[in-house]
Amino acid sequence: VIGNLARMQLSSASSPADLAAMTSALPTIQDRVYLNAGTFGPMPQVAIDAMEAAAAREASDRYPHDMWERLDDAQVAARKRLASLVGASPEQVALMHTTHAGISTCMWGMDITPGDEIITTNEEHPGVLVPLRIMRDRRGARIRTVQWKSDPILLADAIAEQVTDRTVAVVLSHVSWVSGKVADLAAVRQRVGDNVLIIVDGAQGAGALPVDIGMGWDAYTVSGQKWTLGPSGSGALIVADPERWHPVMGGYFVTNDPHNPLDAPLQVTARRLEFSQESVVPLVGIAHALDFLTGTIGIARAHSHSVHLNAAARGILEPTLRRMHGASTPNNVMSGTAHLLICAVLPGTAPAITDHAASCGVSIRYLDDTHIRISLGAWNSEADVLELRAALESFAPCT
Ligand SMILES: Cc1ncc(COP(=O)(O)O)c(C=O)c1O
Repeated sequence: VIGNLARMQLSSASSPADLAAMTSALPTIQDRVYLNAGTFGPMPQVAIDAMEAAAAREASDRYPHDMWERLDDAQVAARKRLASLVGASPEQVALMHTTHAGISTCMWGMDITPGDEIITTNEEHPGVLVPLRIMRDRRGARIRTVQWKSDPILLADAIAEQVTDRTVAVVLSHVSWVSGKVADLAAVRQRVGDNVLIIVDGAQGAGALPVDIGMGWDAYTVSGQKWTLGPSGSGALIVADPERWHPVMGGYFVTNDPHNPLDAPLQVTARRLEFSQESVVPLVGIAHALDFLTGTIGIARAHSHSVHLNAAARGILEPTLRRMHGASTPNNVMSGTAHLLICAVLPGTAPAITDHAASCGVSIRYLDDTHIRISLGAWNSEADVLELRAALESFAPCT
């Protein structure tokens, strides 16, 4: 099935045959309508099989003579795929467990001194805000927050307006997890100039839309468990210039000779930033997942499919949402134009709607009491959105 699908390649909107092939390759979507890749992407069967084999080998052969070679092979394979995801080289990839870890590594990897300023936005995830708060509390950094704009160029302008001679970095999401809006990273670079580091939370970006190191960012995080379809505990921090950052945690290979850790030179590659990724299982999982995503689905096609489906989903859901709100319908009942579609629901009902949808076999998530988030991947179709609409229409809040 996967071979056929690879040959087929998806057109801008996935055909019924593509969708049927994907359904058999992605077990997560077989028994439910899955609209939640923004939380956890559906893992391909090939990745699950490879991880099971790696776990079985780890369990039965606890101390193989080639333990380090096996680990190195798994790391090299994972770095190579993560690098090509963003047009970087493997030497620019530090394997990480999460975006939280990637952003934290950037923060501690800089020489932040009291009064240094970091610009961010009002739509950031704790994965950005917790590391920034620690810099504020421990290093005396000042945080300047810009309101996210609908127009990406206006967002880039608003960020540039906040730059002062104390600005050391801009830290922002590529795609907002709460509005689905997409930042224009090249425009941000163009507006802020070359002296400010641009650090990107790519948790909702990588795997869902094209990303390239040529956009001008200095650092970009990948959360392996979301749009890249890998397991929890996989991901990366990808840096344009590895030597721009200090190592922050002591992993075996932060120096280039683990037998001489006190005196050996530090790595000049991004391995200087790796804490210690020593579990083969998630590494094997993310490598196979990325082969499936890039080879079989194709990121440009996944992106254009989600843009098409988003437009269709708006048409399908909007009348229902308006009916649910009645006279109190807000102006912006939906936001996001690509793989994340956020819908405003009646205040207080979002968690119950999410539970009700789950009981109808439809996985979405709520962001707060008033908003649900629908993730649209290459494997989703209008039929999925119609099922969600049916779940919304059968929802009766107990008020
Ligand atoms: C925009 C954004 N940033 C960061 C995170 C956290 O990712 P991780 O668990 O990989 O640190 C998420 C996860 O939901 C997210 O949506």
